[in-house]
Parts: sequence; C-alpha cells; structure tokens
Amino acid sequence: MQSTIATASEVKDINLAAAGRNRIEWAGSDMPVLGLIGERFKKEKPLKGIRVSVCAHITCETANLALAISAAGAECLLIASNPLSTQDDVAAALVKEYGISVYAMKGESIETFHRHIQKALDHKPQLIIDDGCDLVVTLVKERSKQIEDIIGTTEETTTGVTRLHAMERDGQLKFPAVAVNDSQTKHFFDNRYGTGQSTFDGIIRATNRLVAGRTVVIVGYGYCGKGCAMRARGLGANVIVTEIDPVKAIEAIMDGFQVMPILEAAALGDIFVTVTGNRHVIDAPHFKAMKDGAIVCNSGHFDLELNLESLASMTKSRREVRPLMEEFELKDGRRVYVLAEGRLVNLACAEGHPASVMDMSFANQALALEYLVKNKGKLKPGVLVLPKDIDQEIAMLKLKSLGVEIDKLTKEMQEYMDSWQSGT
Ligand SMILES: NC(=O)c1ccc[n+]([C@@H]2O[C@H](COP(=O)([O-])OP(=O)(O)OC[C@H]3O[C@@H](n4cnc5c(N)ncnc54)[C@H](O)[C@@H]3O)[C@@H](O)[C@H]2O)c1
Repeated sequence: MQSTIATASEVKDINLAAAGRNRIEWAGSDMPVLGLIGERFKKEKPLKGIRVSVCAHITCETANLALAISAAGAECLLIASNPLSTQDDVAAALVKEYGISVYAMKGESIETFHRHIQKALDHKPQLIIDDGCDLVVTLVKERSKQIEDIIGTTEETTTGVTRLHAMERDGQLKFPAVAVNDSQTKHFFDNRYGTGQSTFDGIIRATNRLVAGRTVVIVGYGYCGKGCAMRARGLGANVIVTEIDPVKAIEAIMDGFQVMPILEAAALGDIFVTVTGNRHVIDAPHFKAMKDGAIVCNSGHFDLELNLESLASMTKSRREVRPLMEEFELKDGRRVYVLAEGRLVNLACAEGHPASVMDMSFANQALALEYLVKNKGKLKPGVLVLPKDIDQEIAMLKLKSLGVEIDKLTKEMQEYMDSWQSGT
C-alpha cells in the first residue's frame, strides 16, 4: 500500500509506522555520538534550507542520521541503495511520524530502484549522501546540468569510494566527494565489527544452522573479511581465508587462519562468505567443486560476487526453502543454497550493522555534510577524506559515551614527538 499522507513518499505500508518509530528510538538509544551532533545541529542549524538526497540502506540507524540532518535544517529525501535492505516499518515511520520523504520498499524491482534514483535527483539536491555511488553516477551521467547545484557528496562504502576514484581519474568528478568510508572511525569499526557480526546474524537468521564445527570460507581479507573471519571463529567454525593480495594473505595466516586458493577451499567449505568488492569471485569451477548442502552468500556491496548465472546453468531445479534462501539442485544431484539472491546478506537477512557502530559511521556522515557546507567554494573537486581532527573528535565522543578515559601527551612527550619533525 502506498502512502496517502502529505509527505511525498512511496513506502510499502504506512500503517507500520508505529513499529518503525519504536525501532528508530531503540537504535537511537545506542547512538550517543550522533545524538550529540543532532542536538548541536538543532541549535546551530548548519544545513538550514539545504536540499539533501540520501541513497542509503533504509534502516533504523539511517533514520537517526536523517533526523540529525533534518534537525540541522536540511530538506531531506531518502531512497534505498539496495532493493532488499529497506526496513519497511522504518520507512513508514520516517514518513508518517517525522514527515521525511522516503521512496523505498523492501523487494522493490530494479526498475523501481532506478525510478527512485530519479526521484532523489528531482529533489534537486545540493548535498548527496550515497552508499555505493549509484546516485552520484546517475547525476553525472544523466543530470549533468544539476552538477552546478552540488555543494558536495559523501560516500559510505568501499566500493563507492573505488567508483569515485575512477570518476576522478576520468575527469568526471566536478565536485568535492568525502570518502566517509576512509575515516578511521568508519572502516575500522563498521566494516570490521559491524559486517562481522551482522553477516553471521544474517546467515543464522536465514538458515538457523549451527556454525560451530563447520568450515567457513571467507573470500577477501579486507576490513569486512577480517570481521567475518573473527566472528566465524568466535562461533566455533574452522575458518579458511582466500585472498589475491599476498600481504592480506600473510595477515590472515598470522591471525591464525588457513589460507588457500578458492578452488581448494571450495571443496572444503560448508558456508561461504564473499566480501571482496570484486566480480565472480565464486564462479562455475568453484560451484562444481562444492559439497552437497554448501551455503553461499555475499556481504560485499554489489550482487555480482557470486556468479549465479553460472550456477543456474548447472542447475536442474530451484526452489525457495526458507525466506531469502534458495536451493539450487544441480544436474548431478548436489544442492547449493544461496542466501538473499547474492545481495548483502547482513542487510537482506538481518538488520545490517548494529547501532553502536553506525553511530560513528553516521557521525562522520553528519559532520561531512557540515564540513562541505562550511567549506563551500574552498574545496577542490575530487575525493577527499575528512580532516583527522574530525575523526579524532568522533573517537573521543565515543570513548566518552563508553565512560572510558585515555592518557594525554605530556608537554615533554609532545616536545619529543615534535623534535623529530625536522628529521635531524
Ligand atoms: N555488508 C556490509 O554492510 C558492508 C559494510 C562495509 C563494506 N561493504 C562492502 O564490502 C566489500 C569489501 O569491503 P572492505 O572494506 O573489506 O574492502 P577492502 O578493500 O578492505 O577488502 C577487500 C579485499 O578483497 C580482496 N579481494 C579482491 N578480489 C579478491 C578475490 N578474487 N579473491 C579473494 N580476495 C579478493 C582484496 O585483496 C582485499 O583484501 C566492498 O564491496 C564494500 O563496499 C559491505
């Protein structure tokens, strides 16, 4: 059912708003840093009258970000960055309880997803928050006249930052774009602890399988892969890591994991998780080598890490055995189970990262918007990382909220550190 109330929107069921509000408030109660920023924004209104389009996972944590930005005076509109990650009750609550425009429905088609991207651009944004770069790419390709309105954009995830760098190299990035992912208070925590916990939350909710004693293969040992491997071990799994980067492979070995090529790991794994940001990292030869009953999922940004077309071509029948869990019965009788159609398993089968890590990620997003506005006209077009003092401020606020104090440099220590700056 589409919304019929005043705020322009397209959500699945507006009657879910009350449940959504409860979840938004619950998440907010574990987002103290964003909460403090929101309170300051409410007084100072640093985004007053500015149109902001947000393309992100529509979760209760994102709702808290939208509230902080709206408190800052922005006119905010949200769309989903993934067809399966929308929490419909949260979308309804944003519209009905908070009067914020949302165009997002869990399970929306690719056509609807693209139509919503157009809605976000119809909003004539001056600031964009993107997660995966789809909104920014569409702006540049299809609405280049609107670029002159853009103060700047921010990007949430590793794959989106990779795309921004490619646009910069091609001379297509004509405005400042803050790589929020590259703040330490983002990727150290969100990508590692957030993805680690929520990926296994998704796998367990989807399958209800015991992880202990099983062999889990983690494909990619970046920040997300480290988190997934750590949590798989914590659940009692035997963990195998596959990599293409020799340094990351050594890190995995020294962290105590087995490392081997994916083709060897394919025959051993019970559960496979891809987190590479790369294409077809599990492909036909690997599906051919898998054991009967192997469970395969992806927690990287795009749904192309698993070559599901190749799996389909060796399949004689398919059926959904549980929600978002599809059985592929192969011609030789083996069965492979794919979660969430190869899309982000943590957001599709669970609820994405817990609020406590999104607190820091979205504190970065909120402060990045303020930074772009404060420095309007002064920043060069291209990809930039937030200044270190903003990252440090977020970390200090987080520590404070945890009741943890740390040491400060004494004058003597500071002088000693400064004495090396000349190199002699
Ligand atoms: N699920 C989530 O909520 C979530 C959160 C943050 C990031 N992400 C996404 O997850 C992906 C990974 O992010 P990250 O921050 O860990 O990136 P990263 O760059 O730190 O790590 C990716 C790793 O994958 C490795 N890799 C690339 N191709 C490979 C292959 N064929 N086989 C094995 N390893 C391979 C790289 O060497 C690298 O070590 C990105 O798409 C990112 O956008 C998802």
